Amino acid sequence: MNIKKVFICRPIPEIAEEMLKKAGIQVEKNPLDKILSPDELKKKVAGMDAVLSLLSDKITAEVLASAGSQLKIVANYAVGVDNIDIRACQAQGVMVTNTPDVLTEAVAEHVLALTLATTRRVVEADRFTRRGEFKQWMPLGFIGPSLFGKTMGIIGMGRIGSLTGEMAHSGFKMKVIYFDLKRDKEFENKTGAKFASIAKLLKNADVVSLNVPLTPKTKHLISSQEFKQMKQTATLINTSRGPVVDEKALVSALKSKEIWGAGLDVFEEEPKVNPELIKMDNVVLTPHIASATSEARDAMAEVAAKNIIAVLGGKKPLNQVC
Ligand code: GLV
Ligand code: GLV
Repeated sequence: MNIKKVFICRPIPEIAEEMLKKAGIQVEKNPLDKILSPDELKKKVAGMDAVLSLLSDKITAEVLASAGSQLKIVANYAVGVDNIDIRACQAQGVMVTNTPDVLTEAVAEHVLALTLATTRRVVEADRFTRRGEFKQWMPLGFIGPSLFGKTMGIIGMGRIGSLTGEMAHSGFKMKVIYFDLKRDKEFENKTGAKFASIAKLLKNADVVSLNVPLTPKTKHLISSQEFKQMKQTATLINTSRGPVVDEKALVSALKSKEIWGAGLDVFEEEPKVNPELIKMDNVVLTPHIASATSEARDAMAEVAAKNIIAVLGGKKPLNQVC
């Protein structure tokens, strides 16, 4: 029997490797916590039956071709699959899987973490305190908008969007409005949420959270026009993918105080961060960590391994994207 081989593109929680080995799959991996260059990636995947990729690995038609025709599955260690050329996978008969569900809580928590950090100016106030500038209690210092009873606008009502809405509604008694390609009656009944057009949502929301996948249709979904429609007191939260927001337009909206602030976990040219954003106090920036809880990351590793074991064993995976 020929032994099946998997390449793991970067170190991830060890459980994945343990599970794969236990299933009799030979594991090769990049031992360094460093993104492989396209050329390195092409060399490493040659002859593999499976590739366990990260969102920072571009799985292009070229990479697939250099893997060879025995390649059966690209198991992405992420819910988003915009780093993978899906058409090329389909053309080569390679299955693509992702890791939804297990990171929903972690990402929804991070949406709220960024929301509170931005509205209550937590990071700016921390910097102030560390600089030794806290000399006296300030009746007019670090004032920001309250969340309680305000309106949360969610664009993209998938698992993450709906849990975020539920948390905002049950924890902060927020009203929830949402836009999605389809209505979710169950969610509406549970939270009293109202479906709205994007324009109406932007006009009414105090917090706008983006929870859509990156596709040609969602690229620059939020640009200058949209910022003009938002409240001047509104906060934009992006934990989806950077290019969903036109970052140049965001910088100018923040500078001209068209909106109150932004909490960003993702960037248009990741890992590059627009230097203008770095200078601003009304933004909170995190390095794409929304799924970074020990629970979520371990579970993502487990799910990716299970997907590979299933497909190499001729079974259906848990999370087939194509
Ligand atoms: C993270 O961004 C993911 O897609 O899992
Ligand atoms: C998709 O990312 C979702 O689970 O909401």
